[in-house]
Amino acid sequence: MAQTGVRIVAAGHYAPAAILTNEDLEKVLDTSDQWITSRTGMKRRHVSSADEATSDLALAAARRALANASLKPSDIDCFIVATVTPDYVFPATACIVAAKLGAKDTAAFDIEIACSGFIYGLTVASSLVRSGIFRRVMLIGAETLSKLVNRNDRGTAILFGDGAGAVILEASAADSFLSSELGSDGSRPEILRVPAGGSRKPLTPSAWDAGEQYIYMEGREVFKFAVTKMIAVTDSALRKANLTHADVDWLIPHQANKRIIDSAAKYLGMSNDKVIVNIHEYGNTSAASIPIALSEALASGKIQPGNVIVFVGFGGGLSWGAVTWRWVA
Ligand code: ACO
Repeated sequence: MAQTGVRIVAAGHYAPAAILTNEDLEKVLDTSDQWITSRTGMKRRHVSSADEATSDLALAAARRALANASLKPSDIDCFIVATVTPDYVFPATACIVAAKLGAKDTAAFDIEIACSGFIYGLTVASSLVRSGIFRRVMLIGAETLSKLVNRNDRGTAILFGDGAGAVILEASAADSFLSSELGSDGSRPEILRVPAGGSRKPLTPSAWDAGEQYIYMEGREVFKFAVTKMIAVTDSALRKANLTHADVDWLIPHQANKRIIDSAAKYLGMSNDKVIVNIHEYGNTSAASIPIALSEALASGKIQPGNVIVFVGFGGGLSWGAVTWRWVA
């Protein structure tokens, strides 16, 4: 089988028009703009409407990425959607997106590994291209987490937002992919999960009444795990690529909490202007947060050929991962 390099040719992102601000949350919950800003860095989140599903957000981001790459849907050999909020339990959201784009008979599948979805997806998509199986793969991180949030739980209602980011990966003589490190620990699913709606606990009326259709999170536990793992997995990925902290031009982390991002950046010795942060605008959009941040960084011209980027994420599973990437124009 042919062996080749891979590069990202373009990205695009989309977020619903409706905005939920900290001031809006103050009116309905026992919380404050001051608490939310100082504990999370969040100011606003974009929220999908009742008739907007994850595939609609993914589709809008996909169209923007295709336009930015001057490509047609038929130029893509495989669509991958990383999401924890699919349109349905099945079929896969990626199949729906491919069909809506008019990409007939094209390979499509979803990845469900919560906020680590884009990192796992980037690893899989890169492998599919580098192995020669597909020439072009579109990877989309898309979420409508606002639909999974209990609006009465101040511990989670303030955190999550909706959005989608898409990247197109393509075979290339110069290789962007330097390394990937992935991990998981499923021994404590109870600290971050949606308790009901799966085969362990179907969504019965009593589960519904208990609010078990919503995200449950032990925030403090997840916070500790996130800081430790973000640092450890970044170091492992850098070691695999024979790179040091000093080689990193850009850190593009999952946007879950500004304090988590700041501790990772401090450990890596990276100044704030080298870390892509947009958490104030979107909140935590799970698998969509990294591709939205990348798309914005590309649009603003921050990322230049030759730059070394660390993409790093963590989330439900528990799961974590980092990819090191050299930008190829
Ligand atoms: N407004 C005001 N007070 C609040 C709020 C709020 N929205 N939420 C919690 N508090 C209170 C608590 O009740 C607690 O009060 P107490 O001391 O009287 O008991 C106090 O604030 C401190 O609570 P903590 O939970 O310790 O607050 P913390 O500083 O840890 O911040 C947060 C909470 C923001 C949730 C943080 O723990 C966090 O970001 N955790 C990680 C979340 C994350 O990264 N999730 C990732 C993945 S999501 C996925 O995979 C789908």
